[in-house]
Amino acid sequence: MTDFKNAKKITTHTLREMKEEHVKISMLTAYDYSLARIVDDAGIDVILVGDSASNVMAGHETTLPITLDQMIYHASSVVRGVSRALVVVDLPFGSYQGNSKEALNSAIRIMKESGAHAVKLEGGSEVKDSVERIVSAGVPVMGHLGLTPQSIYKFGTYVVRATEQEEAEKLKADALFLQQSGCFSIVLEKIPAKLAGEVSASLKIPMIGIGAGSQVDGQVLVIHDMLGINKDFKPRFLRRYMKLYDEIKEAVANYITDVKTIDFPNDKEQY
Ligand code: KIV
Repeated sequence: MTDFKNAKKITTHTLREMKEEHVKISMLTAYDYSLARIVDDAGIDVILVGDSASNVMAGHETTLPITLDQMIYHASSVVRGVSRALVVVDLPFGSYQGNSKEALNSAIRIMKESGAHAVKLEGGSEVKDSVERIVSAGVPVMGHLGLTPQSIYKFGTYVVRATEQEEAEKLKADALFLQQSGCFSIVLEKIPAKLAGEVSASLKIPMIGIGAGSQVDGQVLVIHDMLGINKDFKPRFLRRYMKLYDEIKEAVANYITDVKTIDFPNDKEQY
């Protein structure tokens, strides 16, 4: 059995080996240097610079507004904090849907200007040409199927996807398309666990789930959600490991009190 824990660097090949050896892949989002450094030091396998930055960093309702320049800024900050994890960056809405040349140019900008290791894009057969073109330029691509937040205005809601036979069959076909086009992995978001397990078992590349059950090859969460910074976001699939909203609020309230009462700074905290 390979010692993945002590691997100096995680690559797309490492992830494939992990799937083959039935070792689960851990993935979290990060958008800045300081958090990326902590997440990497903790031993995460993959860091996703997700376009969820649009929500949790910029406060937008959807992922649509974030730009390619903004994604590159977040990605380059993350890359500076990482020494082991594979860093994957979302191609933002509008940077790849036009045609495969646009997709390749956007992917190249991300790789050149941020130093990241791979890109991710949403969609199935409709992005096949783009995936093939990006991969043939030497850039690893991660797919994203199921609930694809960049299409939220088409879906109209964030409910579980592919619960009906027709959509489930399309998802299976899309996953195969993405594997054949050269994707090294696929994120499966908010789909029934049984379907995710079937897709995972039928493909060679690792499936990373978010709200897709335990029968996939790894899990991803948005870091602000799992640390409890987002108080009001409570989907069923989310496990919270901290209540940072409350802890940060309490710390800030204590600081305010200390400043107002001239408790801070004390004699030892000044020159
Ligand atoms: O942008 C993001 O954070 C994502 C994850 C939810 C997979 O795509």
